[in-house]
Amino acid sequence: MREIVAETEVRKKDLIVPIFIDENIKKPAEISSMPSYFRIPLNAVCDEIGSCLDLGLKSFILFGIPSYKDEMGSSAYDREGVIQRALRQIRKECDEALIVTDVCLCEYTSHGHCGVVDGGEILNDPTLRLIAETALSHAEAGADIVAPSGMMDGMVKAIREKLDSEGFENVPIMSYSAKYASNFYSPFREAADSGFTFGDRKGYQMDIRNGNEALREIELDIREGADIVMVKPALAYLDIIRMAKERFNVPLAAYNVSGEYSMVKAAEKQGWLDGKVIAHEILTSIKRAGADLIITYHAKELAEMLD
Ligand code: PBG
Repeated sequence: MREIVAETEVRKKDLIVPIFIDENIKKPAEISSMPSYFRIPLNAVCDEIGSCLDLGLKSFILFGIPSYKDEMGSSAYDREGVIQRALRQIRKECDEALIVTDVCLCEYTSHGHCGVVDGGEILNDPTLRLIAETALSHAEAGADIVAPSGMMDGMVKAIREKLDSEGFENVPIMSYSAKYASNFYSPFREAADSGFTFGDRKGYQMDIRNGNEALREIELDIREGADIVMVKPALAYLDIIRMAKERFNVPLAAYNVSGEYSMVKAAEKQGWLDGKVIAHEILTSIKRAGADLIITYHAKELAEMLD
């Protein structure tokens, strides 16, 4: 009887699988702060995607680890960059996958910040052109959806205008609209080699103490043309997910981030709890709060569990 009255269900089609593609390796490499999660070399991308497709997971978000970094993050918008090459390979060899690309400079800049830096400051407007160029290069290479994650003001508008002017009106934007300056991202920074060399991200990511500000950020993104909006992290921000769901009538994504995954894995390793059951409970709570889509490192184990 519980089944017929259950209100919330996490389904495989709600999940988006993050994939770290590393141009510098030849074999998958486990990320030490994210047990059982791997960086994948370019030549293994379709093997990885294929194993997810076999489990019934169809959506992916790609992150790149380039072989070359500079001040301007030029590998992010290089037509021969790691994500651009991966996309062309996917479109040739495992085309059924729905591919979202993370659009940001931090994995590609030598200082690790999400924008152009001058004298210790992150410059918003000069960064917009580079982000738009990156999104365009992803669309050209075959991305289905682009997902700007740098929290620069005006990034959605800059990308929308660029894509439209180049014939990619049909490529939607999933914006990391309400992205907090969170310590839950630290394992990701090891995974994506995107830690910063000075300062922090508080100049562009949101203050963890604010809720109304998240609604303003989301509203601005929707006005600029975002098709899907996101709250990130998820677990410590369920109230924000709920507020966003009640206020806005667009698909809402939540990012169950690296630190949320690592905490579960660490406790599981100690034998303190059952990681899979906990992951299911966490993802169910994120859906119950109002997320339509969840980006999560638990996707594969959850798919196995749902089977
Ligand atoms: C890039 C980006 C980050 C994450 C997703 N895209 C890191 C950051 O902003 O420092 C974090 C994801 C995670 O922790 O799982 N800007």
